[in-house]
Amino acid sequence: MAAMSGLAITLCEVCEQVEVELDRRLPRPEQPGLDEALVQLRAALRYAVLGGGKRFRSYLVVAAADLYEVPRSRSLAVAAAVECLHAYSLVHDDLPAIDDDDVRRGKPSLHRAFDDATAILAGDALQSLAFEILAAKPTHPDAERRAALVLGLAEAAGMCGMVGGQMMDLHPRTEVSTIRAMQQAKTGALIRYCCRAGAILGGADDEAIRLLDEYGALLGLAYQIRDDLIDRIGDPGLAGKRLGKDHAAGKRTLLDDLGEDGAEEMARRLLIDASAKLQAFGDRAGALLEGTSFVLERDR
Ligand code: IPE
Ligand code: IPE
Ligand code: MG
Ligand code: MG
Ligand code: MG
Repeated sequence: MAAMSGLAITLCEVCEQVEVELDRRLPRPEQPGLDEALVQLRAALRYAVLGGGKRFRSYLVVAAADLYEVPRSRSLAVAAAVECLHAYSLVHDDLPAIDDDDVRRGKPSLHRAFDDATAILAGDALQSLAFEILAAKPTHPDAERRAALVLGLAEAAGMCGMVGGQMMDLHPRTEVSTIRAMQQAKTGALIRYCCRAGAILGGADDEAIRLLDEYGALLGLAYQIRDDLIDRIGDPGLAGKRLGKDHAAGKRTLLDDLGEDGAEEMARRLLIDASAKLQAFGDRAGALLEGTSFVLERDR
């Protein structure tokens, strides 16, 4: 295990490991006798989740859990739950009623490959699956920790987190503080949860949970600022999605007020502040610290 050997886990390793985990957990459509409708639902779930995505959220869960030498089987279970929840948010985000995007992760978005109703129901099923994974005993033998993981994800995903942020995004406001709050909710909350979840799994004390939570909050906001920069100046081939959509759709982002340089500078400052939160963990936090460089430099 990385934390034991002293070598920090890499994003590439997490990508491979969580892919195997997700593949194992998502039922296959080719089951004899399965109703055609359920074959389609299973195929849609696998289409939404497998074979794409940077798996940055998984990386954060595993890196935070590695601080506490949590068995990889447990951190990968939580990472898989987060990836299911995140994939659901992307499937619904791309629907005609929200962002109306037809490309995601370099392939047709789910409602284009299947249909709108399947995309809605596949998203719903992925959300339920996320909580099913967290609540299952193998994820952690201690019921209190499982309950804390479930509660944390419910808060991060719900009306005060991702869903609330998505709603605000559909009703753009011009004040910088409101745009910031929207971004913290729609994207920041889940990223924040990932860091916290690793600490919960590891039985961290309140102070460590607070620091990792604050690290995740700063990182999460910077992550969305980078997403908005990619939308403005990125390469669609690399990003795997249609770009230039925010302005065209009348979306407000921090770029509208700060400009490209200002937004990049803000992300840089957020990431410096995020790094400072890790000081208390010393060298053990190397993988989490790498997360800040990834966010600053990512182009997809
Ligand atoms: C895209 O998230 C949507 C946001 C919340 C910014 P990612 O850029 O992490 O998407 P994947 O998982 O790598 O495809
Ligand atoms: C989406 O934000 C955030 C989610 C919660 C899914 P965006 O709408 O900017 O994400 P992309 O650019 O489509 O990936
Ligand atoms: Mg959106
Ligand atoms: Mg979108
Ligand atoms: Mg975007």
